[in-house]
Amino acid sequence: MKIIDLSDEHKPLYFVCLEDWSEEMKESGSHKEVWYDKIKDKGLGVKLAVDDDGKACGMIQYIPIEESAVDGKDLYFIYCIWVHGYKKKGVGNRQKRGMGKALLEAAEADAKAKRANGIAAWGLALPFWMKASWFKKQGYKKVDKQGFQTLLWKPFSEDAVPPKWVKQKKKPVIHEGKVTVTSFKNGWCPAQNIVFERAKRAAAELGDKVIFREIDTFDKEVFLEWGISDALFIDQKQVRTGPPPSYEKIKKKITKKVRKLARHR
Ligand SMILES: CC(C)(COP(=O)(O)OP(=O)(O)OC[C@H]1O[C@@H](n2cnc3c(N)ncnc32)[C@H](O)[C@@H]1OP(=O)(O)O)[C@@H](O)C(=O)NCCC(=O)NCCS
Repeated sequence: MKIIDLSDEHKPLYFVCLEDWSEEMKESGSHKEVWYDKIKDKGLGVKLAVDDDGKACGMIQYIPIEESAVDGKDLYFIYCIWVHGYKKKGVGNRQKRGMGKALLEAAEADAKAKRANGIAAWGLALPFWMKASWFKKQGYKKVDKQGFQTLLWKPFSEDAVPPKWVKQKKKPVIHEGKVTVTSFKNGWCPAQNIVFERAKRAAAELGDKVIFREIDTFDKEVFLEWGISDALFIDQKQVRTGPPPSYEKIKKKITKKVRKLARHR
């Protein structure tokens, strides 16, 4: 196994988080590719873990923290790390063989070489998906918390300043006599891009009782105005989007609100 920088050859696989076998992934559209083209010259680092047959089995992506949705300075921020873990799909389950650790070490070495004062990561205080406990095991310390999401970091120098989550600043505006579906999208995460596409499709299908609002949080000013990076709201209620709810589930939730509207007329 070796760790390599993202090459043109692996880009299509990277844009679908190594899941080229997934039907669901196809729903994520081209948002990640569009995001990549906009951010690639702003210090984005992407490393892949490649097995002896040349197959990409793991990935890590990180960015100067100033470009991310986290408040910090002179640090790097890890958007995500993923070692393919699905049995009998694509390259199969490659977890727990040292790839994750090697990817993280490579990202840290790169951040140090670029003279960052440290590196930050986010994880969930839940026993699945991006687990905060895994980063703790790799020497990261918890520095901030927002709901289930923990912000962790590993400072490289004494003058490193701890990062903070940017707090949510406001809720979407609702419209009298309509259901408002508001989807916040940065573009970096295919899972969140799937949610965006499903919500857009469901809102369109439900007709003129539903207003769909797209908020592009790639624009840093827009992100800071809201303090929200990726999220889905039906009126002012936030829908849980990790893991992505199915199209049917999103449509059902919006339909319920539309029916409520009709009853209150
Ligand atoms: C977390 C993850 C990156 C770790 O990569 P990995 O290749 O499986 O881990 P490694 O084999 O490098 O293991 C490194 C260490 O973590 C430990 N470890 C690995 N998986 C673990 C788990 N599920 N729970 C606890 N410890 C674990 C290993 O025992 C090893 O310990 P050591 O340093 O004492 O030897 C990988 O399991 C993964 O991708 N998980 C899903 C994360 C995810 O959802 N990402 C998508 C975010 S959008």
